[in-house]
This record gives sequence, structure tokens and C-alpha cells, in this order.
Amino acid sequence: MRDVILDVDMGIDDAIAAMYLTTFAEVRIAAAGTVHGNVDAAGAARNVLRVFDLCDIDAPVAIGAARPLVRDLHLAPEVHGADGLGNVAPPASSREPSGESAPEQLVRLARSDPGRYEILATGPLTNLAVALVLEPRLPELVRAVTIMGGAAHGVGNMTPLAEANIWHDPEAARLVFAATWPLTMVGLDVTNVTRLEEQDLARLGRSPAPRAALAGRILVHYLDFYEMITSRRVCPLHDPLAAGILADPTLVTRSLDAEISVGLDEASRGMTIVDRRRDGGPVATDAPAAHRVVTEVDGRRFVEDLLTRLGA
Ligand code: BDR
Ligand code: CA
Repeated sequence: MRDVILDVDMGIDDAIAAMYLTTFAEVRIAAAGTVHGNVDAAGAARNVLRVFDLCDIDAPVAIGAARPLVRDLHLAPEVHGADGLGNVAPPASSREPSGESAPEQLVRLARSDPGRYEILATGPLTNLAVALVLEPRLPELVRAVTIMGGAAHGVGNMTPLAEANIWHDPEAARLVFAATWPLTMVGLDVTNVTRLEEQDLARLGRSPAPRAALAGRILVHYLDFYEMITSRRVCPLHDPLAAGILADPTLVTRSLDAEISVGLDEASRGMTIVDRRRDGGPVATDAPAAHRVVTEVDGRRFVEDLLTRLGA
């Protein structure tokens, strides 16, 4: 059994990622922390509890960072809706967030059983950065970290150069990438090209299964947003792909190990700078904080698996 702590700004694709992850028998969601990003951190916690209710997950939910370390708060209602779930969220949960903060929860769980917990972070990295400040040994205490964020090839979705999760809190991302933990970065190189196409959405829309039905409902707002950009009713699967790679690493068909830094000035804010000079060279690198950057995946196999597991 693998124990996973979610760290999420629960918007539409975070919710689909969480619902998907709950379908793996060998994965247990042990806890969730929330962070500002798509929606405010308290709203994200409300959304996590809604999704956990639907999936019958009883894990504690801790509200985390309300704002980035240095930058101003920026939310994304145009992408995810004012409530973060396309304004069609299921009824509020009767459960409450735990009262502990997300970084403290992370540190407490990691200390309680070193090497047991994996982290899946699909929002800005503020909670992970604060947890690293609270507990500098955190990289030795957690089993692995998988993040959705950044890009290896200088593409962005928030700015021409920056992916949204990293852009929201670039100082936090810098701390997280500088830490020597086993980290896998699932960025726009792979998530932008791993999409739900029209026929996939039709499958979701027809399914009475609770996970598929909720995905179909909340995706309407997300598709409205992407249609404005691409003129097609299709959407990328950012956070679900990161969840998929955590659960099934064989989805990765190409990756590289590289140091990752983050742009902090006005033009480069949130750009991940992936040192690709070793690309194609030996997989192992002696760089102190080399991380695994996913550059190619079996996207169609992933989408099929996602739809099947959601019940579509
Ligand atoms: C990321 O930004 C958020 O809008 C999504 O939930 C995803 O985590 C994609 O850039
Ligand atoms: Ca997210």
C-alpha cells in the first residue's frame, strides 16, 4: 500500500486527479493539504471534502498557505469558476477541515513514519516550501514528491514562459526544487498534449458513475475557458496526468534528470529553467538536487485508463 498526501488548490483538474487516484487499490490518500491558487485555500479545502465525500475517503484535510511567500495573491475564477469547481459543486460536506495547517500536517506525518509518505502537489508550492523551512530534514523523511508544474522546454500557460502553479509562487518553487528529495516534475511538455478530446467528453457525459458524472459537470466551465483559447472543446489534463504518473510510472516513456531553477524577475517570473545539458546522457547525475523531468508519456493509454477508472 502506498500512502499519498495530496497538496492541492482544488480546482477542476485537481478534483479529477483526486477522484482518479482513489480508484487505485494500492494507493491510499492519507491526508490532504490545500493552498491558494485556483481558489482560496479555505475554498480548496471545502472542495476536497466534497470530493472525498463522493469517493468515500475519510482522510484529514488541512487548510494551508493563504498566499504566496512573496508575491500577491492571484486566483483563477475564469478557469475554474468562483468556487473552484465550475460553480456546479456538489453540496458542502458535513465534515470540517482539521484545524492543523497543511505544512504542519506534512511535517507531522513525515516525522511520524520516515520514508512512508509520498506527496502529490498539484497547486502552487507554498505549503511544501513552508514545510521545508519548518523541517529541513523533510527531503529525507518523505518517500517521493510528484508535482504538476513547470515545463522543460520554456513553454507557459500563465505567461509565454511560465506555467501557472510555478508562476503563483516562484520563490516557493525555488526552495522546493533546491531540496534534495526524489522529485518528479510533470509539466506542460506532457500535460498540454495529453487531452480530453470530444469523444472522451461524450463518454464522460453519458456515464451515470458518480466520479464520471461529477467530472463531466465540472468540466463544462473548464471547457468554456479552453474553447476561448483553442477554439475547440477539448482540454489538457494537467493534474490528472501527474496523479497517473504517481500511480503508474510506466506511463512515462521519456524523462531526464536535471537541476531545475525558477525565474524570479518580471519577464521570467515562474519560468522553470531545466538544465538539459545532460539530455540523452547518463540518467544518473551527481548534481545535488537533480530531479526527474517527464518529457514524454503514453498519453492515449493514460486517457483510456482515466476514463475507465472514472467509470466512463
Ligand atoms: C495548473 O494550474 C491550475 O490551473 C491547474 O489546476 C493545474 O494544477 C496547470 O497549469
Ligand atoms: Ca491544480
